[in-house]
Amino acid sequence: MSAAEQGKNNHAQVKTEGGVNRREFIAGAMAATGVVLAGGTGLYSMGRYLIPPKQPERTRQVLVTTIDKVAPGKTFGFKDLNDREAMLVNLGDNRFKAFSAVCTHLGCLVKWDPAKQHFICPCHQGIFDANGNVVDGPPPQPLEEFPVEIREDKFLYVTFKV
Ligand code: FES
Repeated sequence: MSAAEQGKNNHAQVKTEGGVNRREFIAGAMAATGVVLAGGTGLYSMGRYLIPPKQPERTRQVLVTTIDKVAPGKTFGFKDLNDREAMLVNLGDNRFKAFSAVCTHLGCLVKWDPAKQHFICPCHQGIFDANGNVVDGPPPQPLEEFPVEIREDKFLYVTFKV
């Protein structure tokens, strides 16, 4: 073995204070990096399993009626996908809203008062405005609202969550 080769070998064999040479140190560092990466990947996979990605909201759009069937200031009753009472309200100027007719207090059916342009619940006199918001009485929440879309300037479609 030449002096240069011997010096090279001696260099590789130099031990640190803890008794680990450079080759052993690099091998250990690479192994530790592998363990950290594998652990991180495992935690990520487990997290994805435990907390699944949010699913897009599923909806169904239903043709309820045509514009000419709901006079301005009046309502049109229909059933939602769960066979519960609902109603379309014509607020004028081609503005339509759709609500569940089920009162958010104890579930009585609200009625539209065309003179006052609001919904009233006959059970405990809960009152909701034309936007379904609680105006008076015990209901804790607004009426459930369903989005309305006018198609072809004529058809009234209502969207429900499914
Ligand atoms: S059920 Fe409607 S106000 Fe009580």
